[in-house]
Amino acid sequence: MEIVIRQDPADVARTVAGIIGDLVTKREGRAGRPPVLGLATGSSPVATYQELIRRHRAGDLSFAGVTVFMLDEYVGLRKTHRQSYATFIREHFADHVDISDNAVHSPDGETKDIEAEVAAYERMIREAGGIDLQLLGVGTNGHIGFNEPGSSLSSRTRMKTLTARTRTDNARFFPSLDEVPRYCLTQGIGTIMESRHAVLTATGERKADAVSGLVEGPITAMCPGSVLQLHRHATIVIDEAAAGRLANREYYDEVLAHKPAWQSF
Ligand code: F6R
Repeated sequence: MEIVIRQDPADVARTVAGIIGDLVTKREGRAGRPPVLGLATGSSPVATYQELIRRHRAGDLSFAGVTVFMLDEYVGLRKTHRQSYATFIREHFADHVDISDNAVHSPDGETKDIEAEVAAYERMIREAGGIDLQLLGVGTNGHIGFNEPGSSLSSRTRMKTLTARTRTDNARFFPSLDEVPRYCLTQGIGTIMESRHAVLTATGERKADAVSGLVEGPITAMCPGSVLQLHRHATIVIDEAAAGRLANREYYDEVLAHKPAWQSF
């Protein structure tokens, strides 16, 4: 894993936007196709989306031809609900850049047939050639996507029950805790692991334990993000506060210091 520690959240956003921007500009999706992005919601990627929108408005970045697959969606919220992830990605990103509406896919949390829906979602990702870059946040309990502690490390897209901790963490987006959905559809850990590049971003002291567990802890279903230690190319971009409980800082700084210039961030 590449561990990239930046001074503050704004630096983190610029770094992550740089990684996504490079891929999109080089149009290096599989077989020369425009890239397929896996995108996350929640607070963590918002500053990155703002930076990507800024670069697009400045004329530096076009997303034409790019396909997007969302990581997850709540079950039982209407697609048009303010807090559905389908709405979130439009409001915070897709509506402000040149990605066509029908190129943004998310699992349908209103479906009556969950099994058919999750199978279709996996099929769509496969038929698009797989995900070139999967953007991730991490829950305070170590979840990636909504793969909560205890999730199978080889799971596929499916329905999951949100833990009390995740519902409490996300209650800030809803009028009350009672209104936070209890279930979601999420890409599985096996699905996430098939992405060609996984880029996880976390900022703030409240993520320090999760970051320490996923970077330096044992690989365990109790900290689902730790499976990224087995990913073929994972980049963890965090700020000083989120890096606060890493014990082996000097290794990460040293590896980056000797990174060839052509691999710059
Ligand atoms: C969001 C997602 C979640 C969040 C995580 C962190 O699509 O899959 O894993 O990335 O819950 O949320 P924030 O960024 O709000 O702290």
